Parts: sequence; C-alpha cells; structure tokens
Amino acid sequence: MREVAVVAAGMTRFGELWELSLRDLFVEAAAEALHNANADHVDDIFIGNMSGGQFVGQEHLGPLMADQLGMSGVAATRVESACASGGAALRQGFVAVASGMSDLVLATGVEKMTDGADVTNVLATAADQENEVYHGITFPGLYALIARAYMEAHGTTEEDLAWVAVKNHRHGAMNPKAQFRREIEVDDVLQSTMVASPLRMLHCSPVSDGAAAVLLCPLDQAAKYTDKPVKIVGSGMATGPMALADRDDPAVLDAVGKSAARAYEMAGVSPESIQVAEVHDCFSIAEVCCIEALGFVCAGEGGQAARGGVTALGGRIPVNTSGGLKSKGHPVGATGVAQAIEIFEQLRGEAGARQVEGARLGLTQNMGGSGASSVVHIFEGV
Ligand code: COA
Repeated sequence: MREVAVVAAGMTRFGELWELSLRDLFVEAAAEALHNANADHVDDIFIGNMSGGQFVGQEHLGPLMADQLGMSGVAATRVESACASGGAALRQGFVAVASGMSDLVLATGVEKMTDGADVTNVLATAADQENEVYHGITFPGLYALIARAYMEAHGTTEEDLAWVAVKNHRHGAMNPKAQFRREIEVDDVLQSTMVASPLRMLHCSPVSDGAAAVLLCPLDQAAKYTDKPVKIVGSGMATGPMALADRDDPAVLDAVGKSAARAYEMAGVSPESIQVAEVHDCFSIAEVCCIEALGFVCAGEGGQAARGGVTALGGRIPVNTSGGLKSKGHPVGATGVAQAIEIFEQLRGEAGARQVEGARLGLTQNMGGSGASSVVHIFEGV
C-alpha cells in the first residue's frame, strides 16, 4: 500500500443555507479544495451523501457533480452509509490512492436537508424498518433508549449529558463555519424542549445543509500541492446490528470499537497517543458512548468526561474542537469529511482559537444510524 496524504480542504459553512442548492454546496466545497491545491483535475471523485433522493429528489450524484465541476468524464461515485457516508467516502478515497489506482482523489460529502423534506422520516430510513421504524420510533427516540440504558447502568444524570452540549457549543462558538456560534449553559439544555425523554432539543444535533471536500494523493507526490501534508495512517470501518434490540447492550457500540481497533492497528498507535479527536455526537449520549468505544476513557466514565473537562479544549483529550455535530451542524453526508477537515487544520496548526497546541496525531469517528456502521481515521502531521 502507498502512504496517503491529505493535501487540501474546502468546506461551506454549515446551517440552514436557503440560497444554496445541493449542487451549489458541493461545488463550493470542492472548488475551494481544488483551488487550495492549485489543481484543476482529479482521477476519481467520491461523494458521501445519505439521501439526496429523499431530501431533494436527486440521485445519481457522481456524474452530476463531476459535470458541475467541469470534469465530466472522470470516475465519480456516490457512497452511502447513512450519517457515516462522508467517512465512508473518505475511506474509499484512501483505498483508491493507497492501492495505486488513483493519484489524485477528491473525497467529499454533501447534504441538503432543509428544502422541505420530512427530515425525521428520511433520517429514520437509516434504522431497521421492520423491527424499529414500523413501530413508530425516530432517531431521537432510539438515542433516548441508548441514553436510558447508559444512565441506568452508570448513574449518569441529565445534567452530566448536558455538559457534552455545553462543551461543544463553547468550541463551536470559535468556529466561523459552525451553524450555532453561541455558548449555552447547563440550564439552557435542561430547560430546552423535550424531544424524546431524556433528550431535549439542546442534546440534539440540528438539521443542516453543507458540504466538505478534501484532496488525497500519495505522500510522495504531496509536495506538488502543499508544503504541509497530513498523512492518513489508519482507516477502519465496521458494522454492527441495526436494531437496538439485537445488541447485548444498546449503549455499547460494537461497530465503533471494531472500527477503532482496525484503525489503531493499521496506524500502530494506541488511544492514549491521540491528541485531538472529532467524534460523532449526533446526540449528547452518542459522544459519551463513542469516547468509551474509542478507548479514550474507561467504560462507565464517558458520562463524566465533558463535565470534568477531560474532553474540553485544554483537557486530556479534546473532543469535537470544531463544535461537533451539535454546534457545527450535521448535514449528514458531509459530516465525516468535515470531521477530517478539523483534524487536518489542527495538525497543520491552523485551527485558530480552537488550536490544540502541538497536536501531531488526531482521529475522526463517523457513525451511521444508531451505531450500525462506523468509520475511524487516524491522521498524523508531517
Ligand atoms: N440545537 C440548537 N438549536 C436548535 C436545534 C438544535 N438541535 N434545532 C433547532 N434549533 C433552533 C433553531 O435554530 C430555531 O432557532 P430560531 O428560532 O432562533 O430560528 C429553533 O431552535 C426552532 O427550530 P426548528 O427547526 O423549528 O426546530 P424543530 O423543533 O423542528 O427541530 C429537533 C428540533 C431537535 C427535533 C431537530 O433539530 C432534530 O430532529 N435534530 C436531530 C437530527 C437528527 O436526528 N440527525 C441525525 C442523527 S443520527
């Protein structure tokens, strides 16, 4: 396998972007990445997108987006793994470059969620239809069940969970691309509208539009595009049971643990050596369960990590310095690539007020559904 580097990135701001269509979002992010690398052509395009068909009636994104970029003819493929579609697209780009098939790959993610679709029902198509959705449950409902199981097992309180959102809004307030650039307090979370008990509105990621893009090439060709490449040293993907009822413990995310183990093994590193991480906090409880599955904290300690400052900027392992899905926003197909961009900037020392001093090793973890798929990447500054 060849060593793979990220050499450039581009990203729209995230939010309710009424003036931009699905293709506009894609082109803005992709054109910025190409411009930053001074590149005008690529060998391969991968587009993470959960549900263009249901959100805006547009499928077959490969040829459409290649054409919109003025690159009709190039190989281009949409990649889908629900909310992990972006991470999965990044992984396909990594494989294409590592294998020697392609020398310059555009790995992207895009989603346009706010154009009037029935968002809750579209998102629910990523759950088990026959065993869960037909009975009326939604994604907030599934994560509420996970939260209840976790809280009962570990004595975690609603206030503990609120700290995850408070922390991520503090980080997101410093991110010019974030959907919500305002700090919130624990009381704001506890007084926000109940969505699915115990999860309130401020425990949830929002509905968002946005796109993100990175350019990948072999490390030994990176100097053509940048003097500050970031290596991808580990890539792991895994699946787990779709339905919560099929899991031994709904709050133990096997797919996250397996995807992390594969990425750690490829990179030859342990969780203790990771200095900054972007983790899938679609709901506050998700960040709690994921940081345990990633090995950043011991089982049962995730519920206290945000409250204790462990995962805040300046803490032992800063998590979601971008603001995470909660504050930066969660245009589902774009999220996994946007996570990679935050780590790319951190490892290049370009994260501004959010910078983790001296960060050399970073990790992204992107999850599909209620944990049935997960993609982990490990990055190293050069
Ligand atoms: N966090 C913070 N503020 C939020 C928010 C969130 N998650 N969701 C909405 N808001 C804000 C809006 O910006 C708006 O503010 P404004 O009045 O100042 O403009 C206000 O709350 C009302 O927004 P609205 O769009 O009417 O909210 P809603 O009640 O329709 O939706 C949720 C709220 C929580 C139900 C929705 O954001 C949601 O479904 N989130 C989960 C998405 C999800 O499941 N993603 C996939 C994960 S696997």
